[in-house]
Amino acid sequence: MSATDKIKAPIKEEMEKFEPFFRSSMQTEVPLLNVIMNYIIRRKGKQMRPMFVFLTSKMLKNDVGESTHTAAALIELLHTATLIHDDVVDEAYERRGFFSINALWKSKISVLVGDYLLSKGLLLAVDNNEYDLLKIVSVAVKEMSEGELLQIQQSRKLSITEDIYNDIIRKKTAALIAACAACGAKSSGADDEMVEKLRMFGEYVGMAFQIKDDLLDYQNNGSIGKPSGNDIKEKKLTLPIIHVLKNASATDRKRILGIVKRHNKNKHKVQEVINFVIENGGLEYSTNKMHEYKSKALDILAEMPESESKTSLEELVNYVVVRKK
Ligand code: IPE
Ligand code: IPE
Ligand code: MG
Ligand code: MG
Repeated sequence: MSATDKIKAPIKEEMEKFEPFFRSSMQTEVPLLNVIMNYIIRRKGKQMRPMFVFLTSKMLKNDVGESTHTAAALIELLHTATLIHDDVVDEAYERRGFFSINALWKSKISVLVGDYLLSKGLLLAVDNNEYDLLKIVSVAVKEMSEGELLQIQQSRKLSITEDIYNDIIRKKTAALIAACAACGAKSSGADDEMVEKLRMFGEYVGMAFQIKDDLLDYQNNGSIGKPSGNDIKEKKLTLPIIHVLKNASATDRKRILGIVKRHNKNKHKVQEVINFVIENGGLEYSTNKMHEYKSKALDILAEMPESESKTSLEELVNYVVVRKK
């Protein structure tokens, strides 16, 4: 049994129906695209976003309808598209334990495949006249692009603060998870106030999710299916290092930033940075922040009526912060 099987129990049927629906929404007549789509389908991720969509929807209304299925597929399509683009931007050659699309088919094709999936997602909403869902998700996609660009800009300057970091992760990651919960609520007929409340819930979860992702980059031993220690190699300063640099002496700061700037491809030097972050409590600080966001998310859930789906949603939020990949 996988770590999330128990969480999926209340939405077992929905997740089973999701699989073929998601697959068919990626269908194409173009031979090259078809080969790549099959490659993507065989290496599926954790599918946490569809889980968030279905669980929020079912928590509010036990009967999950077509709109919710559209939302789940739409969001997973956009998520897949952004991962393909992200690996081009990050020059990452591994994803979900296998070669990334850009590793196998190069950047040109990856950019186009990402665009294709993005348009397939948007069309899925249009074809089903789901304009409310389309609006929620389009806002998230816009924010994700802003977040990625803001991050690149910051990696050039290396003067990022915790506030800017929060802004980046809110846009690049939390916006889409916020859209999951908002679409789950909207598709079950919730009113605007409830949709906004759950959007906020998703945003807190998303913040915790990315802080965890950034912690894993320091903690993993190369077994999570994506490259480790990659952030420093990319000159990407995340919360653990941002925090320790803020409290470091001028000499230490200069030395550490010097490595990030000029020796970021040197394994031993990068390890020196990682050790510095660990010794100065960077991981503890981030872990505390992550738990603060998790608590804010759970506080919102506490206002919701009791149900199996609500319990699973709580467990999913807890899984976000303990996951190993
Ligand atoms: C990865 O998301 C991208 C981030 C926002 C960190 P996931 O960890 O949910 O990716 P998959 O879909 O399970 O591979
Ligand atoms: C997450 O960014 C991807 C998006 C939000 C588009 P990262 O670059 O930090 O995530 P991973 O570690 O490659 O999944
Ligand atoms: Mg990346
Ligand atoms: Mg990235």
